[in-house]
Formats: sequence, structure tokens, C-alpha cells
Amino acid sequence: MFLSYPYKESEKVILKDNFNIEFSKELEKDNILFFGDNFDILKRLLYKEGYRKKIDLVYIDPPFATNIKFKIGKNRVSTISSSSNDKIAYEDTLTGYEFLEFLRKRLILIRELLSDRGSIYLHIDYKIGHYVKIIMDEVFGIENFRNDIARVKCNPKNFKRSAYGNIKDMILFYSKGKNPIFNDPKEPYTQDDIKKLFPKVNKDGRRYTTIPLHAPGETKDGDTGKAWRGIKPPKGRHWRSKPEILEELDKQGLIEWSKNGNPRRVIYADEKEGKKKQDIWNYKDTQYPLYPTEKNLEMIKDIILASSNRDSIVMDCFCGGGGTLKIANDLGRKWIGIDNSKRAIEVTKNRLEESNSDNLFSNQVEYDFIVAKSIKK
Ligand SMILES: C[S@@+](CC[C@H](N)C(=O)[O-])C[C@H]1O[C@@H](n2cnc3c(N)ncnc32)[C@H](O)[C@@H]1O
Repeated sequence: MFLSYPYKESEKVILKDNFNIEFSKELEKDNILFFGDNFDILKRLLYKEGYRKKIDLVYIDPPFATNIKFKIGKNRVSTISSSSNDKIAYEDTLTGYEFLEFLRKRLILIRELLSDRGSIYLHIDYKIGHYVKIIMDEVFGIENFRNDIARVKCNPKNFKRSAYGNIKDMILFYSKGKNPIFNDPKEPYTQDDIKKLFPKVNKDGRRYTTIPLHAPGETKDGDTGKAWRGIKPPKGRHWRSKPEILEELDKQGLIEWSKNGNPRRVIYADEKEGKKKQDIWNYKDTQYPLYPTEKNLEMIKDIILASSNRDSIVMDCFCGGGGTLKIANDLGRKWIGIDNSKRAIEVTKNRLEESNSDNLFSNQVEYDFIVAKSIKK
């Protein structure tokens, strides 16, 4: 399946190894903040700077085709200019197929930069997001589509419009290949979950449940198919562990025997990390952002922890106020940030410098700042 619209370039043309920019200095450090249009910068990272398949995680929150000029005032951020002192942070004025093509070109380059175990999270709204999903299926392959995450972004709203209030946006999560880095994040159990999932209480007051000691599938050879303590696993199943391990579990009191002699494995609530994280996320954006459309930093942190490892390179090539870069740095990741708005670069630099001056506990931020200038041909 693919989306058809006018002036859609072939991948071959988009992936030509030409770029019309020069950098203000050589790349030296692991962390880089670029000022310039991300298209040529991504190309140069790909064809000249050796970043092909080097990036483990991309988080982007591009313009959403809203046709809005986002302003940044002295002490606040707004979408409409109420004072002549307000400066434009960025203009989100590409719409329709022009917007989709703008994004598609960059996604194609990002795909080439992603490592084999890499992933991309793309933040978008409900108006354009479904078209972007089709573009992403084309670029990354529908088989690499992992989630369409509904992010609850604000408290309930009262629209005048005849429609339901919109309190969510979407994050499209794709991997480059079959085996992405995924550190399977967990969410803490609620008291209700604990009561439901761990209904039993032992003599010390610990909540627990029990699960079968056997799993589906027959083993033709090996001990897990044989009788243990004189009990054979039910037909079509095998013991989950070898007899010596079952003995050890029993010795530790981790096997519960029913009245009719049926053994089950004991699982304690306080030994479980929590439950699997689901695809509806509640991370509301701050009311006092440093940059318009700034995204929730806890959410960024959780994405980075889930889909990258220490020393992974994390890239945000629409980095806005630089929250992704700061959090990546704090978590011991290398990072690349790109933005073509002076305001964005100013806010990002301030954020990074501030973390150098006042945070004893986060990693000091060392980075190259590179201006990408276009070369007229
Ligand atoms: C929605 S904002 C990102 C906000 C960011 N996630 C944050 O939390 O601060 C989109 C950003 O993309 C930047 N941008 C738009 N087109 C760009 C391009 N061609 N190259 C680089 N940056 C671009 C804009 O300047 C803007 O800062």
C-alpha cells in the first residue's frame, strides 16, 4: 500500500549522495547540535560523516502541518503574536502533500542512519497522523510497525465544535528490523492490580499467585518430558525446568502443592517489577514550556530508556528546545540534535548550559555546535 500525491520523488532521487552544505567546523565530539535544515545535514551524516547504521534511536516531533506560526515571547510561549516583542520560534506552514513529502524525504534518510537494532518514534497529531502512518509503512515497512501510541497530552477540553474533546496525540513507533533494542518497560501495579493478580497471602503476609509448573509442547528427549516425583507432565506439555531446578525451587518453598498433590510455582507480587507498559500513555505537557510545542520530558526519558542502551546514539532532528538531547545526555547516551530555528538553538543551548552549571548529579554536557551553511551552486 502506498500514498499517491503530486510531485512524489523516487527514493533513488532522494538518496542521491549530493548535499549542498558546509559545516562551520569538523565534527569532533560524540554529541552534536546542528543549526540548519535537517535534510542536507542528514545526507551529510549519511554520506560523509560515517553515521550510516550508527543511530539506535530517533525521536522526532516535526511540524504537524498546522499552518500556525509559533511565537516565543520574553517569558512565555504562544501561538499568536500578542506583542511586537514576540519572536517567531518556527513556522509550521507546509500543509497537505507538500508537508507529507517534506517529512517522507527526511524519514528515508533517517531509515538509512538507523542501526539494524534501531527504532524511530514519531510524534504527530490526529489530523495528519493517519497519512503519516501510511508514509511510515512505505518507508520502514509495515512489518516493522510496532505501535500507534495514544498519548494523553492535556486535561479534558470543552470545544464549541460539534465533536468530542481532543486530549490525545499519537506516537508512531517503528523499528528498523526484526530485533530492535527494547528494554521492555514496566509500569508499577496498582493496589487493585495486586489484589486481582496476586490473590493469595502467605503466613508472612506476602501476596502471591501460582502458575503451572509445566508449559505447552512435548519434549522428545531431555528430562523435562519425564516424570518428576512420580508425576508426568500432562499430555502435550513439559516441565518448565529440569528436575534438579524443580527440587531447588521446592526446597526454597517456591512450589505450592495442592491437596490432591498438584505442584504449582509460587510468584510473589513484591518480586515482580510491574506490568507490561501499554500503548495509552499519560504524559501531560508542561504548562510553562521553554519552547512552543515542547514535549513532556518524563515521556522522552521513558522512550530513551526503552529503546536505547548506554552509549547508543539518540537523534532528534527536529529538536526544538532540546529536551531530548538533555535527557539523552543525562542517561549516558550520545546525541545528535538538529533545528533550523535560531530560537530553538538558543533555548537548547541554554538548557544544556544550565544543566552544566546547576546540576551536580547529571552528566556534564560536552558537545560540538555546528552551523550548516548552504553552498550556492
Ligand atoms: C514541534 S517542534 C519540536 C519541539 C520539540 N519536540 C521540543 O520538545 O521542544 C518542531 C521543530 O522542528 C524544527 N524544524 C522544522 N523544519 C525543520 C527543518 N527542515 N530542519 C530542521 N529543523 C526543522 C522547527 O524549528 C521546530 O523547532
